[in-house]
Amino acid sequence: MPKTKHDSPTRIAIAILAAGKGTRLKSRHPKVLHEVGGKPLLAHVIAAATRVVPPTDIYAIIGHEADRVRAAVAASGIGFVLQSEQRGTGHALMVARPALSPYDVVLVLSGDAPLITPQTIERLRDFHASRKAAMTLLTAELKNPAGYGRVLRRKAGSDDVQAIVEQKNLSPAQQKIHEINAGFYAFDAQPLFSHIDQLSANNHHGEFYLTDMAAILAKARQRVVALQASHSHEVLGGNTRAELSEIDQHMRLAKCQQLMADGVTILYPQTCVIDSDVEIGSDTVIEPFVQLRGSTRIGSDARIGSYSVIQSCEIGDQVLVQTGCVLEHSTIKARASMGPYSHLRPGCEICEDAHVGNFVELKKSRLGKGSKANHLTYLGDSEIGEKVNVGAGTITCNYDGVSKHKTIIEDGVFVGSDSILVAPVRVGRGAYIAAATTVTEDVPPDSLALGRARQIVKEGWAKEKREKAKAQKAK
Ligand code: UD1
Ligand code: MG
Repeated sequence: MPKTKHDSPTRIAIAILAAGKGTRLKSRHPKVLHEVGGKPLLAHVIAAATRVVPPTDIYAIIGHEADRVRAAVAASGIGFVLQSEQRGTGHALMVARPALSPYDVVLVLSGDAPLITPQTIERLRDFHASRKAAMTLLTAELKNPAGYGRVLRRKAGSDDVQAIVEQKNLSPAQQKIHEINAGFYAFDAQPLFSHIDQLSANNHHGEFYLTDMAAILAKARQRVVALQASHSHEVLGGNTRAELSEIDQHMRLAKCQQLMADGVTILYPQTCVIDSDVEIGSDTVIEPFVQLRGSTRIGSDARIGSYSVIQSCEIGDQVLVQTGCVLEHSTIKARASMGPYSHLRPGCEICEDAHVGNFVELKKSRLGKGSKANHLTYLGDSEIGEKVNVGAGTITCNYDGVSKHKTIIEDGVFVGSDSILVAPVRVGRGAYIAAATTVTEDVPPDSLALGRARQIVKEGWAKEKREKAKAQKAK
């Protein structure tokens, strides 16, 4: 950890600018809550920041839709500063002065630039300390620098910065500069807050630009230096929908590359949508066009078939998910198999070696070890034991129009095809339900329940009908 002159540890705060509206997104939702990699922009920045300092030293400056933003990231344990009127990035730090001035160094991150890594934040911190600067800004060389503030270095090749010029104020000569201000800074708190009142809102937007601190501090003979990011994509900001999509693609491809490096096979990674927090064990195969979202965790040696969409599920080793399954907030244990075309709604548990097949929907249900529901079935609010066979077309009637009721099917039960189980109902261990039975009462263990109308056969009926029709025609 860097030290101050007096050799006591440097107290470092991270301020994340997150109060802006994000006008360019043309959205009803605050900019920093727009998602990339399946998570709000701000959540990514907080995740990187918390790898550098403890959450209690991180302050998000919030304003536009502050309550929503706060609620979305409160679980991270960071602090918040309210900038109720958003009068610019410089104004954001003026408002945060009471929270930040007790620190030695303030690292400023942009809440809309989610590709920043902990390593780069640490490089910025260390470079700032080594140059004994009052302000250090992170920069990047961009092929297309349009929209970003440009960095005026004192001399080419020197670390020293004269000023940052915003896009709208660029002279024709300055428009040729490709080194942009990334919107990440390290400040010594003392010079920052003793000069911040010199910012003026006398510019195109009538805002207090934090970027003007570079010229103010440089004029006051304080050291202002620039550090170029090693990977320019890290500084990309999501100001427009197009930029959000670019960042999202970047993040997802990087996620696939990391998973492949860890031993996961991903066929056609460009077609897969895998959220940042997903975890997958080695030797698992992800087929093309798979979406793995939220906090999904998949074990080893599993296979996820094309067009499956899996939201926050826990999936064990050697599970087979065939084509086209939609699985939400559920657990699937080792060696179970799903699909093709199965649907798990939230709250399901599919136990070891169980099978859920074609066009089967489950909701808040548990299917025990080795049990099977292979075709065209709905199981809602049900508890199904081990080695149960649920025949094709079985339906639990769990809803009476007012309340939901439970269906319990004990171990070893055989449910014949096209059965209807009207809940609440219990089928005892080892019982048989004859095909097409409507079960309205509990079935004792080891018994047979048969509840369908008896078949009537009228011999010769069809032949007679045909002959009658023929005679009619001949008339
Ligand atoms: C800013 C920089 C620009 C830089 C770019 C990098 C300024 C004046 N310009 O421009 O030099 O190249 O970032 O991405 O700083 N915010 C607040 N309070 C406010 C205004 C903004 O918290 O009053 C927050 C926003 O929510 C956002 C961040 O500050 O997260 C940056 O604001 P934004 O409007 O995106 O600035 P840029 O125009 O991108
Ligand atoms: Mg921006």
